[in-house]
Amino acid sequence: MSVMESPKVTVVGAGAVGSATAYAMLIRGTARTVVLYDIDAARAEAEALDLTHGSMFTGSNPVVGSSDIAATAGSHVIVVTAGAAQKPGQTRLELIGTNARIISSMIPRLMAASPDAIIIIVTNPCDVLATLAVQETGADPARLFASGCVLDTSRLRGILAERAGVATQSVHAHIVGEHGDTEFPLWSTASIGPVPLLEWTRDGQHVFSADDLHDIAEDVRTAAYRIIEGKGATNYAIGLSATRITEAVLRDENAILPVSPVLSDVDGVDGVALSVPCVVNRNGAVPVQQMRFSDRERELLHASAETLLRTVADVRG
Ligand code: LAC
Repeated sequence: MSVMESPKVTVVGAGAVGSATAYAMLIRGTARTVVLYDIDAARAEAEALDLTHGSMFTGSNPVVGSSDIAATAGSHVIVVTAGAAQKPGQTRLELIGTNARIISSMIPRLMAASPDAIIIIVTNPCDVLATLAVQETGADPARLFASGCVLDTSRLRGILAERAGVATQSVHAHIVGEHGDTEFPLWSTASIGPVPLLEWTRDGQHVFSADDLHDIAEDVRTAAYRIIEGKGATNYAIGLSATRITEAVLRDENAILPVSPVLSDVDGVDGVALSVPCVVNRNGAVPVQQMRFSDRERELLHASAETLLRTVADVRG
């Protein structure tokens, strides 16, 4: 595992998600330089100052807050969080009109300032926005992808771990597809440590029934809606997810994470970004070649791809 010297990360958007991402990066010591870029200079500078004031506790360098794209130049990773957020009851796909315009105008300028950066789209609907950005800029899909279902996967593993009575890190399971209403878990390959999920027992009793799995998948799929009802947005766990992906890139980890690059013929899915388990390293994200889906999973993957492709087609008119 090689570690990049003096890694520089830009977080685009100083709202709830961008600030939480920068905060997670400071606490985890993810990068040497973190730039918080926002068209609202006062906001970017104020958030950056607030974060910087924690340096006695984090040992991190000051965060740079700026509305000048030049401040982002030479970034190794750019995490894009700018745009409108879901309102209570609104789906991620309903944000497309506003956010497609924001992302389309910003990505080419960010790429010009940091031609070697890996770009991670967090703004929703992240899969559609990553697809449009790759189509519009001709970027290598491995180098510009969406954060996808990394967060949903953390939600899933947290629930499974608690019920199974093991550490979250010992649960191997992935949410794939759209980061949104058509996402689903890959149950066929899910395991607790080396034990297939359905075979896991506690006190001699099986822990998971087929009904349980259905309820757990539903719980994960609707989690963000419940949080948005209660506090108006989700921000902390998505900030950690974006930070985790950034670390996998900067540290050239070859970590397997369900991020969302534009796929080329993954089990027949083509030309649209959606999450599948990917190897993530300093060159970006590439789908795991050996992945085998069950018939049901393949059906769901194609249904998710079709939903996203329809939205992409709508935007392109
Ligand atoms: C969520 C937002 C990031 O799932 O879409 O919390």
